[in-house]
Amino acid sequence: MKAVAVFPGSREVKVIDQEDPRISQPDQVMLRMLDIGICGTDKEICTFEYGTPPPGDDYLVIGHEALAEVVAAGSAVKRFRAGDLVVPSVRRPCPHPGCLACRAGHQDYCYTGDFRERGIEQAHGYMAEHAVDQERYLNPVPPDLREIAVLTEPLTIAEKALSQITWMMQRRPPWLDPQTPAEERGRGLSALVLGIGPVGLLGAMVLASAGFTTYVYSRELPPSPRIDLVAAIGATYVSSQAATFADLAERIGNIDLVYEAVGHSHFALEALPVLGTNGIFVLTGVPGMQAFIEADPARLMRDMVLKNQVVLGTVNAGPDAFASALRNLDAFRRRWPAVVAALIAGRYPPERAPDLILGRPAGIKTVIAFDAP
Ligand code: BGC
Ligand code: ZN
Repeated sequence: MKAVAVFPGSREVKVIDQEDPRISQPDQVMLRMLDIGICGTDKEICTFEYGTPPPGDDYLVIGHEALAEVVAAGSAVKRFRAGDLVVPSVRRPCPHPGCLACRAGHQDYCYTGDFRERGIEQAHGYMAEHAVDQERYLNPVPPDLREIAVLTEPLTIAEKALSQITWMMQRRPPWLDPQTPAEERGRGLSALVLGIGPVGLLGAMVLASAGFTTYVYSRELPPSPRIDLVAAIGATYVSSQAATFADLAERIGNIDLVYEAVGHSHFALEALPVLGTNGIFVLTGVPGMQAFIEADPARLMRDMVLKNQVVLGTVNAGPDAFASALRNLDAFRRRWPAVVAALIAGRYPPERAPDLILGRPAGIKTVIAFDAP
């Protein structure tokens, strides 16, 4: 079968021909990969800055944002049968008996760092015609989400973040009443999303639909289709070329939530001073090596203490976030059909993957499909 692989030793990214995987244990499921999204992490892996091949291999099959169809299931598999659609999770638990997180099925909170991630860290990914996975790592997808379910994994980042902060918000007066319905969690609160890539846009959709008055701040200037999408979900776009962080703070008032989706450390640091009283700052980007800059830690610390602020980093996601991402995708496509339709930039064959990953992203989410023309 065909697969897209990165060879760190020879610094190559190419389509390879690989033996088909096989079901070898009763709890395994054979998948035919339908759609595989590409993201900034794939770009870092394909520029040899991130990611590791499985032990003993000199290459890594990439791809971690996937939608697949079940083609066969081992004898112990209960939840899936041929024809079902699934989205796999990315991280696999570490082997250490003492890791409470992994032993409880919460490997997104792994303590040891010895986890593997499919398509990223010591495990081959999903940019292949077929893949085999254990049942427990697969999330069921309703058939009518076939066209958009490849967006599930990038959406889980915002889902996990929002469920984390909701828990905190409910305990931080005067924010949320624990009785507030999920759809209104953000009512009366403002959110500032940094970045207008897929993670930022999907984050803005989650926040706007939870009732936050949502702003998106990035470099891009209008006219731009992405900026149009921000307006279409009822959020406000502000370009960093037209307004500073200080201008933003003046315009928004108390900024209750900052959702960072850029992965640039300088930009994140510049945003910290505008976080409001009782505010939460969520970091989702994984920055590469960046230049040193000067900062004023006393000012940051003073603000954080005197304003009861929280800085929260979040990575990966568990089954609850996958389930709520799938529910939200369904809600989004009903509420904003044109926006959801515009999120997927196009489907391309695997031969195009190296160029698409390394080039400038054209639309919002670029997808590899093995049957694309
Ligand atoms: C993936 C996560 C992963 C993270 C760090 C992200 O692109 O979406 O699943 O945990 O990279 O490797
Ligand atoms: Zn990703």
